Amino acid sequence: MSTPMGMIEVKNFKKSFGSRLVHKDVNFYVRKGECLCLIGGSGVGKSVILRSLIGLEKPDSGEIFIDGVEITEMHERQLNEIRKKVAYVFQGGALFDSMTVYENLAYPLREHFNFSESEVKDRILTQLNEFGLPGSEHLYPSNLSGGMQKRVGLARAMMMSPDVVLYDEPTAGLDPYNTIKIQEHILRLKKQGKTSILVTHDMPTAFAVCDKMAFLLDGRIAAHGTIKDLEKEQHGIIQKFIAGEAS
Ligand SMILES: Nc1ncnc2c1ncn2[C@@H]1O[C@H](COP(=O)(O)OP(=O)(O)O)[C@@H](O)[C@H]1O
Ligand SMILES: [Mg+2]
Repeated sequence: MSTPMGMIEVKNFKKSFGSRLVHKDVNFYVRKGECLCLIGGSGVGKSVILRSLIGLEKPDSGEIFIDGVEITEMHERQLNEIRKKVAYVFQGGALFDSMTVYENLAYPLREHFNFSESEVKDRILTQLNEFGLPGSEHLYPSNLSGGMQKRVGLARAMMMSPDVVLYDEPTAGLDPYNTIKIQEHILRLKKQGKTSILVTHDMPTAFAVCDKMAFLLDGRIAAHGTIKDLEKEQHGIIQKFIAGEAS
């Protein structure tokens, strides 16, 4: 087995749902501290890849390395350790509707750590401030705007101080103001050294935050490189994406 490239590496990833072969042979890597933007049309399998990186799905074959460790054969208990290191910011935030913002943020801490209640409170209030949400702790998700819900989702994912962050369409449906806010948070977390993968159709956000792009097309990574590399791609559909004309 060769040495994995960087913080995340996906090798020969294959996955079908019923008779539908979604991933034929997906290969890519993300170096420590880098942000990779994973782009591609609707239904090509971007979310399935992100979910697989924290063991919520398993490929039919292939390998996934997180910080040098192969995870596809891991048990739930081992995967829980991976999930402390790798945060998944779900499409739409995936907040618990019956819990306040405070309880939503407390949940991962109580699940994984043994902090005192005052420590939990300190951490939550600090986090809400960092994500521009002071004073929102007693609100329920239904009382929040879409932009705030996404920021709470991001704040909750960061409660575990992960090394890796997976963003699934974090700006989808947001107005320009909230889109910029999310970009700022992604850049701030990147400055802290976090490795990340950003799945998005929002090309201005991709250009603003990512170091590299990988283009998923027909079950394979059709192109992988810096924005400059991808701009040289002759593939019509890739050019359309880069130009923001496809989604
Ligand atoms: N749990 C599942 N059961 C059946 N099919 C699924 C499941 N999850 C994903 N798929 C299929 O896999 C394909 C890729 O899904 P997804 O990763 O959500 O696409 P993307 O995020 O790129 O839009 C879709 O065509 C979808 O129909
Ligand atoms: Mg998706």
